[in-house]
Amino acid sequence: MNEADRDGNEKPPKTHRKEKMLRTGVDIVKIERIRRAISRYDATARARKRFLARLYTEAELRYCRDRAESLAARFAAKEAIAKALGTGAWRDGIRWIDLEIVSDARGAPSVQLHGAAARRAQSLGLNNWSVSLSHDDEQAIAFVVALGEPAQPLSSG
Ligand SMILES: CC(C)(COP(=O)(O)OP(=O)(O)OC[C@H]1O[C@@H](n2cnc3c(N)ncnc32)[C@H](O)[C@@H]1OP(=O)(O)O)[C@@H](O)C(=O)NCCC(=O)NCCS
Repeated sequence: MNEADRDGNEKPPKTHRKEKMLRTGVDIVKIERIRRAISRYDATARARKRFLARLYTEAELRYCRDRAESLAARFAAKEAIAKALGTGAWRDGIRWIDLEIVSDARGAPSVQLHGAAARRAQSLGLNNWSVSLSHDDEQAIAFVVALGEPAQPLSSG
């Protein structure tokens, strides 16, 4: 016989219940660190462009322009996503540009995963992402939440 909840409603058998999963990631970045990293590549416009293109997608660079605080917040967000994806994330061939922060017309950010990052999220069953960014004069912070259902049932009993 199936279990009943506190109101006496019958619950579906455990084997058919969908296991939910929640993962979080957070990271904080000194804006100056990003500013310094960029200026190290200032020698030629090409070197700088190549460095930025390794970290950020074209759309991210278009949105951030030269705002180091926004670039730092996105760097923090990429680290936060990596945490939510698990510690092995960088070893799985995930590139920085596979972790994209897309900003809508009002400036609200969201997560878009590509390539190896999308595959890793899919294998973990994480299909719903949310991100929030904040920055002051010195630091940028990103907080990420990922929701989903494990691809493999956690248990049958
Ligand atoms: C969005 C808002 C709350 C940002 O607050 P703030 O203290 O000025 O700035 P913070 O440093 O904390 O946050 C900046 C980040 O907020 C995010 N942001 C901007 N607009 C946003 C929105 N509508 N919803 C969610 N996040 C938003 C951006 O990622 C931004 O960083 P970015 O420019 O590098 O992308 C503020 O601009 C605001 O009040 N906007 C109008 C009202 C609004 O749309 N609020 C949304 C929540 S209801």
